[in-house]
This record gives sequence, structure tokens and C-alpha cells, in this order.
Amino acid sequence: MSLLDVENIHSYYGKSHVLEGVSLSVDTGELVTLLGRNGAGKTTTLRSIAGVVQPKAGSVKFNDQEMIGREIHRIARAGIALVPEHRGIFALLTVEENLKIAVRDGWWKLTDVYDLFPRLFERRRNGGNALSGGEQQMLAIARALLNNPKLLILDEPTEGLAPVIVDEIVRVLIDIKRTGMSVLLVEQNLAVCEKLADRHYVLEQGRIAYSGSAADFAADRSVRDRYLALSA
Ligand SMILES: Nc1ncnc2c1ncn2[C@@H]1O[C@H](COP(=O)(O)OP(=O)(O)OP(=O)(O)O)[C@@H](O)[C@H]1O
Ligand SMILES: [Mg+2]
Repeated sequence: MSLLDVENIHSYYGKSHVLEGVSLSVDTGELVTLLGRNGAGKTTTLRSIAGVVQPKAGSVKFNDQEMIGREIHRIARAGIALVPEHRGIFALLTVEENLKIAVRDGWWKLTDVYDLFPRLFERRRNGGNALSGGEQQMLAIARALLNNPKLLILDEPTEGLAPVIVDEIVRVLIDIKRTGMSVLLVEQNLAVCEKLADRHYVLEQGRIAYSGSAADFAADRSVRDRYLALSA
């Protein structure tokens, strides 16, 4: 049994059958990436785990408990935090207010996320709407950590960010992983994935087309040609 066991889920938008039997797992302390071209179903997979989309079949077991059918807030309370693509921060609140409303009892405290992101400490009195894209991403990750999840799920955290900010996010994810956090990461930047991941999955048209260890993936260049050429 893994921390997260997704088995054969099928998810739809209306009549459109987007996930056609996706299975994947994340063990405690593991950082796993989910790769794939645009439209492959990566975001839908993350939403199906977090309860934003309800799969019509299959199972999502977290700590051996079924998550399908539970409401989003109950899934969050079970210990799953999703940082969505559009970051979901409150523009009219300050950085610190955004952080404080996210706090739940546990290991991560406000001072810890300020240690992790000194930039957020400097900007703590700024409004959410005054932040750069990179700062918004940092705030979104910090908020997720303050929820004290057991599994952190990130949807393209480096998308659209300048290389120096991408490096900063990578450094932070390495630090987060060192605390023993389990992470499921969707990321189009292969260099970022290879710096962080223990294992990779590749989605293609709503199915898992490949899975392998970081070492196998690095050794098998054909995988990226077959499944990732367009997005790499
Ligand atoms: N809200 C929605 N309503 C209808 N169809 C959707 C919706 N969101 C996504 N889709 C469709 O579902 C499929 C999978 O989309 P999804 O966003 O999961 O892909 P993705 O792998 O995350 O892509 P990207 O790399 O562009 O983020 C695509 O064909 C997309 O057009
Ligand atoms: Mg997506």
C-alpha cells in the first residue's frame, strides 16, 4: 500500500471522456512527476485526486481510504493539498493574511514558510495583487504547506516564470522533499523534473503510457521522443 494509490480512474467533462483508466501511486517521502503533452489529462488527473473532478469509475485511495465521493474540503482535511495552475491566492488580502488563513495545526508554521521563502517575508504587507508571477507561485506553495498536508500536489509551478525564479522554486522543492513530504508534480520543464523526481509517469490521451524510475527515464531517451517531443 502506498500513501496514494490511484487505480484505473475514468473522468469526464460532460460527455467528453478525458481519463481512460489512469493508475499511479506515490509513496511516503517520494517525489513523483506526471508528464505529458498539452491536453494529455495531467490537470484532470490532479483534479480527480483532489476531488475537484469526480471520477466516474476506479479508486483513489489515500492512506488506504477511498477519496472518490468525498467533498473537496474533506479530501483536503485527509491531507491532500493541490496548488492549482492559477494559484488561487486572494488578490485583496496581504501576503501575510493569505498565509494566516491557510494555517492548520502541524509541523509547518508561518516562520518556517518565511524561512523557506525570504521573499514572502519581505513582501508580507503587500497585497496579493501586487506580487509578480513568481511571488504568487511562492505564496501558493507556502499556503499549501501551512495546511500541513501529507501529500503536496503541484500543477506546473514553474510555468511562465523567469529562469532565476524557476531555480528558486526548484531549490524550495528540494528543501520541501528533504522534510519527508510526499509530492506529486506536473511539470513541463524536463530539466526541473530530472532534478527533483524519484519516479516519472507519462500520460498520453488519458492513459499512462510510461512509468519508470528517474534512472530508467534518464537512460531511455526514446521515451521523451515518443511522448514528450512536442512539450519538451
Ligand atoms: N473544464 C473543461 N471542460 C471541458 N473539457 C476540458 C476541461 N478542462 C480540460 N478539458 C479537456 O480535457 C482534456 C485534458 O485536459 P487537461 O487540462 O487535463 O490536460 P493537461 O495535460 O493538463 O494539459 P496542459 O498541458 O495544457 O495543462 C483536453 O482535451 C482538454 O481540452
Ligand atoms: Mg494542465
